[in-house]
Amino acid sequence: MTSKNSLIALTVVFVLGIAMIGLRQQSARASVWELSNQWAESAHADRASESFVHWDAEDPPSVPVGCALCHSYYGFVDYLGADGSTPGKVDKEAKIGSVVECGTCHNPAAPSYRAVEFPSGARLTGLGYEALCMTCHHGRESTVSLDWRTTDKPDDAPIEKQGFVNPHYYPASATQAGADAGGGYQYAGQTYVGSFLHAEDMRTCISCHGAHSLKIDPQTCSPCHANVVAGTDLRDVRQSKVDYDGDGDMTEGIAAEIKALHAGLYEAIRAYAMDVLGKPIAYSADSYPYFFVDTNDDGQVQAEEAQNANRYVLWSPRLLRACYNHVFVGKDPGGFSHNPKYQLQLLYDSARDLGQVTVVQMDGWIRP
Ligand code: HEC
Ligand code: HEC
Ligand code: HEC
Ligand code: HEC
Ligand code: HEC
Repeated sequence: MTSKNSLIALTVVFVLGIAMIGLRQQSARASVWELSNQWAESAHADRASESFVHWDAEDPPSVPVGCALCHSYYGFVDYLGADGSTPGKVDKEAKIGSVVECGTCHNPAAPSYRAVEFPSGARLTGLGYEALCMTCHHGRESTVSLDWRTTDKPDDAPIEKQGFVNPHYYPASATQAGADAGGGYQYAGQTYVGSFLHAEDMRTCISCHGAHSLKIDPQTCSPCHANVVAGTDLRDVRQSKVDYDGDGDMTEGIAAEIKALHAGLYEAIRAYAMDVLGKPIAYSADSYPYFFVDTNDDGQVQAEEAQNANRYVLWSPRLLRACYNHVFVGKDPGGFSHNPKYQLQLLYDSARDLGQVTVVQMDGWIRP
C-alpha cells in the first residue's frame, strides 16, 4: 500500500468510527432511558424493601460481611473486587442505603466475572453476564452445610440448640444448577439432575428475565409452548409426559405437579413431627423462623402461634432435611421453570425419608 492509500484508508476508518460511535450513543441514549425506567420499577430498585432497609436501625448502621454480598451495592462490588479489594470475598461490612444499583452490574470487574461459587463450594464456570444474577440468587446453605450439622447424629433425636436451617430466599440459580450446585438437601444414595439446560436460547437468567425489568415476556415462550399467551399462562407450561403426583392429569402445568408434591411433603412433615417427635408443627411463609409449634394442630400458623417463644425447636436431622427442602422449593416460586425435575426429586425424597418412620401418603407418586 502506498502512503497515500493508507492515509485514505485511515481517514475512512476514522470517519466511519466517529459515525458508529455517534449512532451507538444515540441508540444507547434512548435505551439507557428506557432501561433505567424498567430498573426503577423493579424489585432491585425498591429502596423501601426489607432486603435493603433491614440493617438501618443497627448501631452503628451497617450491613454485616455475611449479608453485604447480596444486600448492598458496596458489598457486591467488594466481592467482585471492583473497589480494588481482593476478588472472591467481602472484606468489610458495608454502608447502608443502597439497592441493586446500575453499578452493581455495570462496573469494571463485571465483564470478566464469569464463574460462580455456590454455598456448597461448587463452582460453575464459563458463564456470561448471568453470573451476576446467579451470585445473589444462590441461597445461603446446601447439602454440605446440612450434613455438617447432622452427620453422626441419630436421625430422629432432636439436635441440642439447633434451630431451623433456612436456605434463604429466591434461590433460583441453586435450583437451576441442581446437583451441579447441591443447593437442595440431596439424600445419600440418590442421584439428582444437574443444571436444567432447557432449550439452547432459554438457558440463562437473562434469556427469560429482563436484566432491568426482571420481568418475563410470555411471548418469548410462545413459539415452543403454544399455550403461553399471557403471564398468567406460565404455570401451565407442560412438556413431560409423566404423572408425577398420580392424580391422573398429565396435561396440567408442571407447576401443578410440584405444588401437589409440595403439599404432600407438608402433610408428611406434620405427621412425622406428631408421631415421632410428639409435638405438632406448622409452617408460615411470612413469619421468621417459619416453623412453629402448632398448638391447635390445624396446620396453619395463627398470629398468637407466630411468636419467637413458640418457634419449633425439636430439630432432628430427619426433620431438618425435609423442612429445608420444603422451604427451598417454596421460596423459589419460579422453580417450575428453573429446574422442575430437581424440585420434584427433592420433594419426593424428603417425603420418602419421613415415610421410613411414619405413615406418609405418596400413592401414585413418581420420582423423575
Ligand atoms: C447469596 C445472597 C444473599 C445473602 C448472602 C444474604 N441474603 Fe438475604 N436475601 C437474598 C435475596 C435474593 C433476598 C430477596 C428475597 C425476597 O425478596 O423475597 C433476600 C431477602 C432477605 C430478607 C427479606 C426477607 C423478606 O421476607 O422480605 C432479609 C431480612 C434477609 N434477606 C436477611 C439476610 C441476612 C440477615 C443475611 C446475612 C446474615 C442475608 N440476608 C444474606 C439474598 C441473600
Ligand atoms: C442486575 C444487574 C443489572 C443492573 C442492576 C443494571 N443492569 Fe444494565 N445490563 C445488565 C445486563 C446483564 C445487560 C446485558 C449485557 C449484555 O448482554 O451485553 C445490561 C445492559 C445494559 C445496557 C446496554 C443495553 C443494550 O441494549 O446493549 C445499558 C445501557 C444498561 N444496561 C444500563 C443500565 C443502567 C443505566 C442501569 C441502572 C439504572 C442498569 N443498567 C442496571 C445488568 C444490569
Ligand atoms: C447484588 C445482588 C443481586 C444481583 C446481582 C441480582 N439480584 Fe435479583 N434480587 C436481589 C434482591 C436482594 C432481591 C429482592 C429485592 C426486593 O426485595 O425488593 C432480588 C429480586 C429479584 C427478583 C424478584 C422480582 C420481584 O418482582 O419480586 C428477580 C426476578 C430477580 N431478582 C432476578 C435477577 C436477575 C435476572 C439478575 C441478573 C440480571 C439479578 N436478579 C441480579 C439481589 C440481586
Ligand atoms: C426458562 C425461563 C427462566 C429462566 C432461565 C430463569 N427464570 Fe426465573 N422465573 C421464570 C418464571 C416463569 C418465573 C415465575 C414468574 C411468574 O410466576 O410470574 C420465575 C421466577 C423467578 C423469581 C421469583 C420472582 C417472582 O416474582 O416470583 C426469581 C427471583 C427468579 N426467577 C430469578 C431467576 C434467576 C436468578 C435466574 C438465573 C439463575 C432465572 N430466574 C432463570 C423463568 C425463568
Ligand atoms: C426454543 C423452544 C423453547 C422456548 C422458546 C421455551 N422453551 Fe421451555 N421447554 C422447551 C423444551 C424443549 C422443553 C423440554 C426440556 C426438557 O425437559 O429437558 C421445555 C421445558 C420447559 C418447562 C418444563 C416443563 C415440563 O413439563 O417439565 C418449563 C416450565 C418451561 N419450558 C418454561 C419455559 C418458559 C417460561 C419459557 C419462556 C420464558 C420457555 N420455556 C421458552 C423449549 C422451549
